[in-house]
Amino acid sequence: MIEQNAPYVVVIDGPSGSGKGSLALRIAQNLDFNLLDSGAIYRLAALKALQKEVDINDELSVFESIVDLTIRFEIGQELSIPFLDGINMSNQIRQEATSEAASVIAQYPSVRQRLLTFQQDCFQPPGLVADGRDLGTVVFPKAKFKFFLLASVEIRAQRRHKQLIAMGISSNINTLQAEMTERDERDRNRSESPLVPAPDAIVVDSSMLDLEEVINLVSAHIKEST
Ligand code: DC
Repeated sequence: MIEQNAPYVVVIDGPSGSGKGSLALRIAQNLDFNLLDSGAIYRLAALKALQKEVDINDELSVFESIVDLTIRFEIGQELSIPFLDGINMSNQIRQEATSEAASVIAQYPSVRQRLLTFQQDCFQPPGLVADGRDLGTVVFPKAKFKFFLLASVEIRAQRRHKQLIAMGISSNINTLQAEMTERDERDRNRSESPLVPAPDAIVVDSSMLDLEEVINLVSAHIKEST
């Protein structure tokens, strides 16, 4: 039996722009838990490979370029702030070139394996809220709570567009939507840890819901079951 106050994991999986990052941050704040943005880890790994100018399409070169990866996160006001080799990379990880490279390297089993323990080690007291693609299926299959957030690609592209503009990064909504569709396909169809809801995940379609409504829904579920 799980003790009332034993540390536990809440996972929130879903495609990019589904709102899982904002949701994860607010749930982590509400529970006073640690936060893991696993997409940021893939993005930092991609940045490292880009910095080393290796061929992104070559798995071995990418793997070798990230063997000595040093990453850490600090919780900021609205996001967790990612550091690569001690440098704040909040903006760089959201650039289109990084998004594209992250999606490519996330297909490689050796890269996923390299990044797995890093993610699992983030589970420390008092508990963890983690968002990504395979957190409920591969990284934390025994998580106490699993949510899978969906939203239509049109809505997700609009959200990401606003996010990029707010960060001062230029963006074209049509290009964004086309790229998102392509990356969704890659995430869903890769042989290693594809983007699928865990069988025991609660699927939430956030297309017609705002962030506060999704937070209320997820919080109510957690409250009911703890
Ligand atoms: O969530 P995001 O858009 O920041 O993720 C960036 C990339 O990393 C995306 O192409 C999917 C990949 N990713 C993954 O394969 N597995 C995860 N757990 C998280 C992200």
